[in-house]
Amino acid sequence: MTLKKHTRRKFFQLAAAGTGFSMVYLWDRMMGNQLLTTLHQKIVLPLTRHLVSFYGDYIVINQKQHVKVFSSHCTHLGCLIDKVENDRLICPCHGSEFNLEGDAVKGPAYKPLKAFPFKESSDGQQITIQPAET
Ligand code: FES
Repeated sequence: MTLKKHTRRKFFQLAAAGTGFSMVYLWDRMMGNQLLTTLHQKIVLPLTRHLVSFYGDYIVINQKQHVKVFSSHCTHLGCLIDKVENDRLICPCHGSEFNLEGDAVKGPAYKPLKAFPFKESSDGQQITIQPAET
């Protein structure tokens, strides 16, 4: 009787753990797929002289004319990053931090932000993010 009860408890613990891991995996896959599917058309953004500019799904970093464009979706669970402090991009949900190269420097996120290729206009006023080749 005790053995059967103990086995049932173990089963439910393992089932709960498996379900939890599956949910995290699926969420991670969904967020990755969302990033891949959101860029079906070219996106034109202003290029300001600000070090960091937030434009919805995108973050534009402009370090002395060295420009980078990242997804603003945190690589942990996909929250929108909308804050910079001390040259760190900070996720409001669980506190992950990324440096201005997009690398995760504080967890729980451990993957870098997705970088997007782009073209700068000849007058230096805009950048155009191209949809991925299909
Ligand atoms: S979603 Fe950004 S730290 Fe969790």
